[in-house]
Amino acid sequence: MSKRAADFIVQEIQQHPNSSLGLATGSTPLGLYKELINSYIQGKADFSKVSTYNLDEYYPIQKVNPQSYDHFMNENLFRHINVEPSRIHIPNGEHSSAEGACLAYDEELRRNGPLTLQLLGIGLNGHIGFNEPGDCFAGSTWAVDLSLSTIEANSRFFEDSSQVPKRALTMGIKDIMQANKILLVVSGAQKADILQKSLYGPITHACTGFRVATSSKCYCYNRQ
Ligand code: F6R
Repeated sequence: MSKRAADFIVQEIQQHPNSSLGLATGSTPLGLYKELINSYIQGKADFSKVSTYNLDEYYPIQKVNPQSYDHFMNENLFRHINVEPSRIHIPNGEHSSAEGACLAYDEELRRNGPLTLQLLGIGLNGHIGFNEPGDCFAGSTWAVDLSLSTIEANSRFFEDSSQVPKRALTMGIKDIMQANKILLVVSGAQKADILQKSLYGPITHACTGFRVATSSKCYCYNRQ
């Protein structure tokens, strides 16, 4: 899976050296990032003109925090390839306001969009980025209040659950769907069920339209 997915991305970069790539964190893309690094070392992939846009980041969090997605991306990909630091974009967990960080990120996406390719993983419950089941489909980057179960699940990576950020910044489904191509990587028997539902199940979400878009939970800056 990782090799095929990396080849797909490398081909895209070869055809479009100025590609803008939407990237994800999590365990699923780790093998794919190793393959991309190998392709760079072997001279098959040149990232010098590529721009990257990460899906999500905790809020608030310092970039130097080993649990930040900024740190994850540097460790697992960026510092091993020739991507220009100025072309790397990750929602800013250090911004003085979560909503301000979302607006700033949307602005960057709009300026350079649409993304050439969006790489995605999927959660066991079908979440994409930090967009959980029931969240709005029409939204751009927004600040999510993490559920208690997510905070508890993530506490294993922090000293204790009080250290886990209570919010996260995530690209919305609308931003994601605007990419020219979407590459979804899914592995493991435990994800078979949700993959089957995602591919063949009915398209549903628990919230629609204006009422949800204007609720305090949903920051749909570009809603139509
Ligand atoms: C991370 C992200 C998440 C993960 C998902 C699956 O940037 O977007 O939605 O893709 O939680 O995570 P893993 O790959 O660890 O199973």
